[in-house]
Amino acid sequence: MLVGLGTGSTAAHAIAALAERRLRIETVATSEASAALARSLGLTVRDFAQVSRVDVAIDGADAIDAGLRAVKGAGGAMLREKAVAEAADRMIVIADGSKRVERLAPTKLPIEILPFARAFVIERLSRWFDHCIDRPDYRTDNGNIVVDGHGWDDTSPDTLAAALMAVPGVVGHGLFLTEIDAAYIADNGFVTRLERGRNPR
Ligand code: A5P
Repeated sequence: MLVGLGTGSTAAHAIAALAERRLRIETVATSEASAALARSLGLTVRDFAQVSRVDVAIDGADAIDAGLRAVKGAGGAMLREKAVAEAADRMIVIADGSKRVERLAPTKLPIEILPFARAFVIERLSRWFDHCIDRPDYRTDNGNIVVDGHGWDDTSPDTLAAALMAVPGVVGHGLFLTEIDAAYIADNGFVTRLERGRNPR
């Protein structure tokens, strides 16, 4: 199998667990950090630029609701994470119970921006966010900047996602509305599995 490796502290556990099992798999990674971790543990990491389809992707989330809509990107990897998630036949989120939410909006929404368009994009983002906070001296693996949008309205996330992507200079954002097929949520020693389309809202 070809496995997509997520980014963040939870995904790192999955990467270590996969490596430990010595499975006959290859991987693609959603960040340089995850690629380095995977290689250091003996996993084969392929260049995603040469890959159009992944069997399964395993990643964390910052917040996830009962409809398997999530906010991702606290670690800044959301653009690569979304590409790998979309390429995957099955995208699985793993998370602890603190990530399970009724509503997404209290979670800051990371937005990846072309540095060239920084001021214009941040000004435009004020249409949808109460305020945006820069990540000083931070660059994504793609060489872009990230701002975190606070105070947003989650009643129509599809509309917001489309509006954000229509701003020239916005390269990506952390709203994952359709990509996630299942979530495994750990809470007090129990794991709950949520499957798209099969859970009470
Ligand atoms: C990385 O950019 C993120 O999307 C992570 O997947 C997300 O922030 C979850 O990270 P933790 O597992 O470290 O909470």
